[in-house]
Amino acid sequence: MEQFGGINLSHYELANLKTPCYVVNETQLERNLKLLNDVQTKAECKILLAFKGFAMWRLAPLVMRYLSGTSASSVSEAMLGYNEFGGELHVYAPAFSDADMAEHVKMANHIVFNSPGQYKRFKSLLADHPNIQAGIRLNPEHSETDTAIYDPSGQYSRLGTTYNNLLENIEDIEGITGLHFHNLCELNADALERTLAVVEEKFSFLFKRISWINFGGGHHITRSDYDVEALIRIIKAFKVKYKLEVYLEPGEAIALNTGVLVSSVEDVFHNDMDIAILDTSATAHMPDVLEMPYRPYILNADEANKKEFTYRLGGVTCLAGDVIGDYSFGKRLRVGDRLIFGDMAHYTMVKNNTFNGVCLPSIYLYNEETEKCRVVKHFSYEDYKGRLS
Ligand SMILES: Cc1ncc(COP(=O)(O)O)c(C=O)c1O
Repeated sequence: MEQFGGINLSHYELANLKTPCYVVNETQLERNLKLLNDVQTKAECKILLAFKGFAMWRLAPLVMRYLSGTSASSVSEAMLGYNEFGGELHVYAPAFSDADMAEHVKMANHIVFNSPGQYKRFKSLLADHPNIQAGIRLNPEHSETDTAIYDPSGQYSRLGTTYNNLLENIEDIEGITGLHFHNLCELNADALERTLAVVEEKFSFLFKRISWINFGGGHHITRSDYDVEALIRIIKAFKVKYKLEVYLEPGEAIALNTGVLVSSVEDVFHNDMDIAILDTSATAHMPDVLEMPYRPYILNADEANKKEFTYRLGGVTCLAGDVIGDYSFGKRLRVGDRLIFGDMAHYTMVKNNTFNGVCLPSIYLYNEETEKCRVVKHFSYEDYKGRLS
């Protein structure tokens, strides 16, 4: 038996999966959702699914049993929220075009603008849609992450409105009913507390004229060492002080540790070190491995040279840098061996691509109670062709 992330695949099932494939554990997803719902109930806040992290619409009924709605950053994501999920639909993007806004006003409950200029541009259109709540995204200019591409508060950031920018354009935000900030990435409640202190210090002068505030995503609420009690305390105290509706819009926390990527070894050879080529790809199927970058966990593997046989694991595209990393194993890798990558449900399916025409991984759903794995999606040449013309 291979047991990983609550997924308990028999050798038979593992051998019969069409690789590469994501296997999403719906039981674990529900556990995450229950924890998030607990936060909603205890802190009296609302939690939205940020599609940018996880957008398995097939699981919409399960997600919406627990969450208050969804958060979209494009017209396509908004349509997914509106058509498949229901609940509240919040939309934010660094900029909206006229064409985007014409669609968003048909679907969204909340629209968050990145700058006073964007709000001003669409204000007259919004006047025809009095039920839409308009907000401004703030840039607290307070960094909590060392990874520059994940830091919305970094120098010259294009995300959100700074204190100075807001003051200079204060007349232009007349009519907004809410504020939004997103400043965290895979962080604990202490990072929220520090960010919130800065937001209060700089922007609380606006709190009297709004009714809601969105604390963004990046809260790693479902990670085992996350301080859920602290989060609840922080939100409750904030609500008592300012009487505002509080929203969170995590993506990763919803699907954290809910899925694996199963791949097969297709070739093994030597070039100063042992190299294994897999049927998956860092750049096409797990792009954050290169973009973030990070080293994914692999079942039964260790750091290079910790176990007897070390391999450089390479992807199947022609990109020289399509390398997942160097890992060691207790036995030699052979063609046909299956490697299982951990925590692959979020920021994978939503970001993957068909570079080199490599096929997208199939998607399976696993249920812990039945211990059964069922295929929900295979991709084909048509998916590649459909993106081209
Ligand atoms: C505006 C906004 N909201 C929510 C999220 C979701 O963040 P996470 O998946 O880290 O929780 C992001 C991620 O980039 C974001 O930019």
